[in-house]
Amino acid sequence: MRVVISIGGSILVPDEVDIIYARHLAELVNDISDSCQISIVTGGGRLARKYIGHARDSGASEIFCDLIGINATRLNARLLSAVIGEKATREPPRDFIGALKALDSGKIVVMGGTHPAHSTDAVSALLAEYITADVLINATNVDGIYDKDPEKHTDAIMYEKLSSEKLVDMIKSYSAGAGQYELVDILAVKIIQRSNLKTIFLNGRNLENLRNAIEGKEFTGTLIENG
Ligand code: UTP
Repeated sequence: MRVVISIGGSILVPDEVDIIYARHLAELVNDISDSCQISIVTGGGRLARKYIGHARDSGASEIFCDLIGINATRLNARLLSAVIGEKATREPPRDFIGALKALDSGKIVVMGGTHPAHSTDAVSALLAEYITADVLINATNVDGIYDKDPEKHTDAIMYEKLSSEKLVDMIKSYSAGAGQYELVDILAVKIIQRSNLKTIFLNGRNLENLRNAIEGKEFTGTLIENG
């Protein structure tokens, strides 16, 4: 069983690094790594947005800002590798070939971004596609995908199931600048669609729920339906 987990920067670095969360996540990952192959892709969080903001204000191009963002995601990957310990990759793989090699050698893959102009949502979807993962889990700080922003609307309703077509419709008007991928990156959804990847959006702060989703048990979140 192969699982790819995208850990949104919003949970790993909500403001400062949440090291307590990282330790609990590491415990879970170490625990389940005996029964399944795990790859984690870390987002950049506030760290990425701060650096990108300063660079953009100083006149940096979008690709330059993306490269800064990739550095931030890799910094988070290195930190999470350290917390997971010896089972995790030391050096975050820079591409999918390196990730698969590490996975085949028995490591827990922990990586950040790869190339400019997309987010780690797309990286995790591409990785899931490349390694033919059984499930892709996109973990953020909200319970799933809602019909409207749950932080702004108290009557927002979470979808338990959502078609990938509807998700594309919801996000196609969103901006795609460095550090500005709202909800989910459209490239990620296109990959999920074309490879019919089983994909779940859930709240990564609830580690019991995350475990349930990995183990195929009942979970709270949004399951993406393809086709
Ligand atoms: P994130 O994946 O954290 O982006 O990468 P995000 O979705 O904007 O942030 P969160 O997860 O909601 O907090 C941070 C930034 O790094 C660049 C992009 O600019 C992205 O917005 N990046 C990341 C790339 O250009 N390529 C990658 O492969 C990964």
